[in-house]
Amino acid sequence: TTTPHHTHERLPSRLVSVTVQASAKINLYLRVGPLRSDGYHDLATVFHAVSLHDEITVEESEHLSLEICGEQAEKVPLDGDNLAVRAAMLLARRLGREPGVRIVLRKGIPVAGGMAGGSADAAATLIACAALWHAELPHDELMTLAAQLGSDVPFCVVGGTALGHGRGERLAPVLAAGPWYWVLALADGGLSTPQVYAEFDRRRASGDGELREPGDGEPLDVPAALLSALRDGDPKRLGSLLHNDLQDAAVALRPALGRVLEAGLDGGALGGIVCGSGPTCAFLVSDQDAAVDLAARLAGSGWVRAVRCATGPAAGARILARTAG
Ligand code: C5P
Repeated sequence: TTTPHHTHERLPSRLVSVTVQASAKINLYLRVGPLRSDGYHDLATVFHAVSLHDEITVEESEHLSLEICGEQAEKVPLDGDNLAVRAAMLLARRLGREPGVRIVLRKGIPVAGGMAGGSADAAATLIACAALWHAELPHDELMTLAAQLGSDVPFCVVGGTALGHGRGERLAPVLAAGPWYWVLALADGGLSTPQVYAEFDRRRASGDGELREPGDGEPLDVPAALLSALRDGDPKRLGSLLHNDLQDAAVALRPALGRVLEAGLDGGALGGIVCGSGPTCAFLVSDQDAAVDLAARLAGSGWVRAVRCATGPAAGARILARTAG
């Protein structure tokens, strides 16, 4: 029997499988501080979850295994580098048990696209395995495990719209009216996040472009105007305030992204931005009709592999179904 999670029936005592959905993110604003001694950068960012998602099913099994289907499935690593596998192992170790679980991952989020696809899988696997194994972990502890798996994983657990500080793992909720309508331009091939950060550091050190480090004592923060546009639900203002410090580095590594951004803005977007470390680009529009219109134009431009319409804010990792044995 499969029970939707929102029913208030008594939960079955023994579960054999759990399915969890987790959303992709975009960064509405991303300011990168200095490189830290641990290899990460301090950030000031606004995370925003959108309605593109991956789905993970975990099933009791003797051995830990992973199967992947859906879009670009062949591009996802199947070994111990996979964030879903690492999430299951980390939680099992924390609980002092074997990680015997069969993980089936259905990809809907572009792979290596700057939209936290791997982090969403890690968040979904943590939630799914915690439910399967009846682990009553306090939220704080779950978030600590999430941060150990990656800087974006804590946000993928909570979803919505949130301020991120530290390396992205320190979160505070943000009031964001909505829905916000997005058109996503998907690229052929991914970009490596460490490579984009390295290019960013190189450009900043050599004084390329407008990049400059925040001065001593200058707080690494998000502009109040952007937060008020979010609160007021004003897409025109928000569109003009979207910003990503990593964008120039991503465009330097993948010059065609410049054309994609141009095509989106020429096509009527209120604002356009590279998602995280790229190469996906996100365009904000005023409503559903504008989204369909811009998606058609971008698809016809010849500069993108595929387009998707999405809305935000979307939920964090949530249980879709539990199956009792
Ligand atoms: O945390 P995560 O494993 O997702 O980060 C991947 C890479 O991105 C890091 O190894 C680092 O090179 C870069 N990164 C960074 N500063 C951050 C987040 C990520 O330099 N705040």
